[in-house]
Amino acid sequence: MSAKESKKLTVPAIRARKNAGPKISAVTAYDATMARLLDEAGVDVILVGDSLGMVVQGLPNTLPVTVDEVCYHARAVARAIRRAHLVGDLPFMSYQASIEQALVSSGRLLKEGGCEAVKLEGGEALADTVRAIVRAGIPVMGHVGLTPQSVHAMGGFRVQGKGEDAAARIVADARAIEQAGAYSLVIEGVPADLAHRITDAVSIPTIGIGAGPECDGQVLVCYDLLGMVRDLKPKFVKRYAELGDAVVDATRAFVEEVRSGAFPAAEHSFGMAPPRTVGEPTGTTPVVGSMPPPYGPAEE
Ligand code: KIV
Repeated sequence: MSAKESKKLTVPAIRARKNAGPKISAVTAYDATMARLLDEAGVDVILVGDSLGMVVQGLPNTLPVTVDEVCYHARAVARAIRRAHLVGDLPFMSYQASIEQALVSSGRLLKEGGCEAVKLEGGEALADTVRAIVRAGIPVMGHVGLTPQSVHAMGGFRVQGKGEDAAARIVADARAIEQAGAYSLVIEGVPADLAHRITDAVSIPTIGIGAGPECDGQVLVCYDLLGMVRDLKPKFVKRYAELGDAVVDATRAFVEEVRSGAFPAAEHSFGMAPPRTVGEPTGTTPVVGSMPPPYGPAEE
């Protein structure tokens, strides 16, 4: 990556992509190791999504996720990234009760989580909330269409905006969030034509997931993109690797080598310290190196 390409991506830089391109690539991350890899690969936006409830915690939906949990994962991600723009999700019922609650929760994601912006789900009904958060100096990414925090109201994770009335409501939602000052907008689970219509209707970049190719960017959950969720492949997901298979195969090989005694071999084992002569300095091998390997004995 050149120095220009590795420059930190800011909110104005993300906004400017609407007209200037290139399209925005966004991926979720929940820990430092994954975030470092995604950042190195040149992802523009890293989202600490409340999807962590499902893909990290194994819950059936995102509703139980807390601000504390998003902050915990965001802190880990923030430590690892250099270039990507970091967005944290406001979890269910951390912003709907009142504007004051939304301000407190958003502030925590920035102060405690190290996020640079917050994302919240909803349309017209949330416009005043978005306005207040933006006025407090906190950038807001909107999220319309299939909003997973409304899973019960929607009757499941269903594509939204299929009829003209429903489509018009989502366009109005998108406009309301844009007018309230959001700098970007996730569009999830709507027909491609509707996402195109929304993208043309707003002046801020749209980032689609299950919303067709005409958005100004695309977002995927990291484990979906990498093929780590093996038992589920929604239509909108493209797997760019089959890391789930790779993890199982590699771990099977480890299990076999532990059983057979092939691991650890001599090259993975430490010897005794060579005998010291009288008068030699007594410094010992550092136990923890400051650079990789980041833990454990560095080397003999
Ligand atoms: O929670 C999440 O990860 C999200 C993205 C999938 C957009 O909201």
